Amino acid sequence: MFPNHRPRRLRSHSQLRRMVRETVLTTSDLIYPLFAVPGEAIAKEVKSMPGVYQLSVDKIVEEAKAVYDLGIPGIILFGIPEDKDIEATGAWHDCGIVQKAATAVKEAVPELIVIADTCLCEYTSHGHCGYLEVGDLTGRVLNDPTLELLKKTAVSQAKAGADIIAPSGMMDGFVQAIRTGLDEAGYEDTPILSYAAKYASSYYGPFRDAAESTPQFGDRRTYQMDPGNAREAIKEIELDIAEGADMLMVKPALAYMDIIWRVKEASNLPVAAYNVSGEYSMIKAAALNGWIDEQRVVIETLTGFKRAGADLILTYHAKDAARWLS
Ligand code: PBG
Ligand code: ZN
Repeated sequence: MFPNHRPRRLRSHSQLRRMVRETVLTTSDLIYPLFAVPGEAIAKEVKSMPGVYQLSVDKIVEEAKAVYDLGIPGIILFGIPEDKDIEATGAWHDCGIVQKAATAVKEAVPELIVIADTCLCEYTSHGHCGYLEVGDLTGRVLNDPTLELLKKTAVSQAKAGADIIAPSGMMDGFVQAIRTGLDEAGYEDTPILSYAAKYASSYYGPFRDAAESTPQFGDRRTYQMDPGNAREAIKEIELDIAEGADMLMVKPALAYMDIIWRVKEASNLPVAAYNVSGEYSMIKAAALNGWIDEQRVVIETLTGFKRAGADLILTYHAKDAARWLS
């Protein structure tokens, strides 16, 4: 034992621990996801995600106010459309559900940052993130036709008031396509938060209940990344950076802490981590059973994402965490 080296000296008092703490989670780090549905006065709890609701636009506005009052800087919007079709009309239509929600929120709470998730899976009849040939049951998503639809979706979301466009479909070239579309439509100043390293994960299960976006056949492994790959994540982010991404996301977060770290090291852009639905549901389930201390586990988990390199954390725990941090 070396008497000069006693790390415990700095752990002896809570204020001392506070002084030397390297990573401090704050409410500014958080982004809260919201699910918009058609109708009025609707708040329908998602079975697999206690505390998370599908909300009609009026309720989304109420929730946005509450989120803003808690000091959370932004929300990300997902939409469940009235109708789904092969062209994902609900995604890019100017009267789409996310467009309506974005406009209403910006009108009611102009200071709250509205991020629009830009993907087709909630809007296609088959539930895939891109365009498929009619009658194709093999699930071969066509890359370039999808880019055209994503471009239209992004422009329409920006027009509706979205402050940030967040494409999540893992199509090749989607950042460039969307950047071009936004610039041509006069939205040169609208940033793109790219879901750059998004893995084909089983942790998305509860989200697909919430967003009603489970693929009707096949899976997403031909476009989302293989969980075994880390170097490929760097390739993905390099492409997205070259195409003009302003921020990069890693998703999921918990099983991919190393990827958050690597992405942080490999780029100078802000890094976002998506603490996905399955991660939320596991904590909730254990907490509801009295097996873990929810508050402590959530703060520890979110602090871990930040320590790994996340500058922004998208999380269904955001409102609770904001309360606990205040
Ligand atoms: C789809 C999309 C997914 C999530 C957000 N957008 C996953 C998927 O179904 O592939 C997952 C979010 C979560 O699990 O919380 N583009
Ligand atoms: Zn999708």
